[in-house]
Amino acid sequence: MFGDNLFLALVAPKTGAHALFLHVKKLNIGYGRNYGQNNEDTGRAMVRTIAEKRGVERRIAMTDIINVTNVSFRYEDNGPNRLSDMNLTIKQGEWLAVAGHNGSGKSTLAKLLNGLLIPDAGAIEIGPFQTSRENDLWEIRRRVGMVFQNPDNQFVGTTVKDDVAFGLENNGVPREEMIRRIEESLSRVQMLGYEDQEPHQLSGGQKQRIAIAGVLAQKPSVIILDEATSMLDPRGRKEVLKTIQELNKQDGITVLSITHDLEEAIQSDRMIVMKQGRIVQSGPPREVFQHPELLRDAGLELPFALSIQEKLKEAGYELNVPTLTQTELVEALWNYRQSK
Ligand SMILES: Nc1ncnc2c1ncn2[C@@H]1O[C@H](COP(=O)(O)OP(=O)(O)O)[C@@H](O)[C@H]1O
Ligand SMILES: [Mg+2]
Repeated sequence: MFGDNLFLALVAPKTGAHALFLHVKKLNIGYGRNYGQNNEDTGRAMVRTIAEKRGVERRIAMTDIINVTNVSFRYEDNGPNRLSDMNLTIKQGEWLAVAGHNGSGKSTLAKLLNGLLIPDAGAIEIGPFQTSRENDLWEIRRRVGMVFQNPDNQFVGTTVKDDVAFGLENNGVPREEMIRRIEESLSRVQMLGYEDQEPHQLSGGQKQRIAIAGVLAQKPSVIILDEATSMLDPRGRKEVLKTIQELNKQDGITVLSITHDLEEAIQSDRMIVMKQGRIVQSGPPREVFQHPELLRDAGLELPFALSIQEKLKEAGYELNVPTLTQTELVEALWNYRQSK
């Protein structure tokens, strides 16, 4: 399988590591999907993240952009709370990943943040605005843009241009300003030149980037991506992630990315893990991943490299640093081998 080959290719230059590779194979660890490409990408992204660490810390302002204070929410009057007494602060320029099993309340949180739902108790503030104030909602929805899961459900225009223009028309932006913003937004998602294309001519990744352009045209402070990459193929996922990364790092747009994919969460500044409407873990991804049992308990599938590390541990091979990416795993295996 491709995963096996790639892994072999990575360890092969360091002779001796072969033996360890064979051990891994003997443990009969399944490669459930094509991890090769994703993990390599994650690996590179990780190196970049480490390299940029200082920059990242400077980039995140001290100002809070979102404040969630003691928020509870239920859909039916006598139904269960789907969010329970939640507290969460997000800093301007931060990239927050939200992980959690199906039904843990992630989308509910997203909809509360841009005022599509209003809390039953507590408050949600976006800068100086509050979602429970009717008069603030318009401004909140402009500031907090949402990109949803299904690329086909959010394309509202007949062409790319119309689609990006949609929100602007609703906001009464003058025509010249509109043309300028469409061009600027398309350029930021690398889709200039596609203005007159129709949705069926685009890939899933391109459609999601157009959705992001639609949000950008409104000049938002925050972009919420609700599993926006989950229906995409690896290439589309990579394109969208790269776009988000640029918007966050270069433009300082605050990103809240809801994802099942822990390998995507690794790239964030901070992640929270939700379970049954509550935050059960919060911290930099590296700290959160120190407790794989808690992630499992929240119903999450561990990143590939971490799950291999766990299997190795069960088999008596203990690598003493958590390996979150394939590159780190190979490095740790190599060091392990050297130390024996
Ligand atoms: N419109 C709705 N009406 C009633 N219950 C809902 C509605 N939307 C979601 N729920 C319930 O709220 C809980 C949290 O859902 P959701 O926020 O969509 O979870 P997630 O996005 O983490 O999968 C689930 O149990 C779900 O069934
Ligand atoms: Mg959801």
